[in-house]
Amino acid sequence: MTSYDKTLKLANDLQIPVLGLGVWKIADEDVEAAVLAAIDAGYRHIDTAQAYRNEKGVGRAIKATDVDRSELYITTKLSGDIKEYETAVAAIDKSLSDLDLDYIDLMLIHSPQPWVNFREEGNYDQGNLEAWRALEEAHQAGKIKAIGVSNFEKSDIENLINNGTVKPMVNQILAHISNTPFDIIEYCESEGIIVEAYSPNGHGEILNKAEIVAMAEKYQVSPAQLAIRYCIELGFVVLPKSGNPDHIVENGQVDFEISAEDMETLKRIERVTDYESNELVFARPRQQ
Ligand SMILES: NC(=O)c1ccc[n+]([C@@H]2O[C@H](COP(=O)([O-])OP(=O)(O)OC[C@H]3O[C@@H](n4cnc5c(N)ncnc54)[C@H](OP(=O)(O)O)[C@@H]3O)[C@@H](O)[C@H]2O)c1
Repeated sequence: MTSYDKTLKLANDLQIPVLGLGVWKIADEDVEAAVLAAIDAGYRHIDTAQAYRNEKGVGRAIKATDVDRSELYITTKLSGDIKEYETAVAAIDKSLSDLDLDYIDLMLIHSPQPWVNFREEGNYDQGNLEAWRALEEAHQAGKIKAIGVSNFEKSDIENLINNGTVKPMVNQILAHISNTPFDIIEYCESEGIIVEAYSPNGHGEILNKAEIVAMAEKYQVSPAQLAIRYCIELGFVVLPKSGNPDHIVENGQVDFEISAEDMETLKRIERVTDYESNELVFARPRQQ
């Protein structure tokens, strides 16, 4: 079995491919080529979002490929700004229409707070429950096979568990070498929630770090391959982004093992990046 074929089992017993292509920051007109390059390489999982504004292009790639829809795994995300039931219902249907799909494999609430208030005080519990109810109903109706969250902290997840009817099946969070949030990871694992690592290459910023380069050389892999493998060894779904066909192929060639000792070293590497969420970098320019 290769990393392309490896899957994890969600709480509803459906399988999710461990390796997915992230398509944040790939323009709609370019994303079809990137997705097709990934599918040709062997990827079967694509991670998009309403906020990436490229769902239509992802949909064009799904139509263009010879690979059957049933073999592909498509994730999208309900915009973090949507905290009201009716708006959420309409947005879910718009994603289905933009992706031109009969069903979405996995849909997440993108953020517990609207982007402009990310990680700020303010109670969005009720709004998240309204968004979650819309996802639960679409799940029940067969429009979405699995539902989950992204950037959620423990209290945000507890709100859904205590007041909703379906437990989130995944939490997609920022996790990479030098910045692996073990507290929320352990909490998710204790609740049977699959962790998805976004920005596994630290948005590209960790790839030049000397310790990472040196360890990659030891395994005769690239720093990106080491960073992606690190997430797989930790039991996460991993979502490297690339619009470069060579990088897309390279990022899928991660069938090697990192020793337990080296994993411990990688867990302890000093933090390289200082952002909390890349998504903020993405979201804020639109406010300006
Ligand atoms: N849920 C959320 O809030 C959230 C937030 C951020 C990201 N995400 C998801 O996670 C995905 C990945 O995150 P990300 O885009 O922040 O960062 P990332 O995957 O950590 O890094 C992407 C950067 O690394 C470069 N890169 C990729 N492979 C490489 C390789 N083999 N060698 C050298 N450079 C390489 C890419 O450039 P090239 O394109 O030129 O290869 C790009 O600049 C996103 O696309 C999205 O699906 C989710």
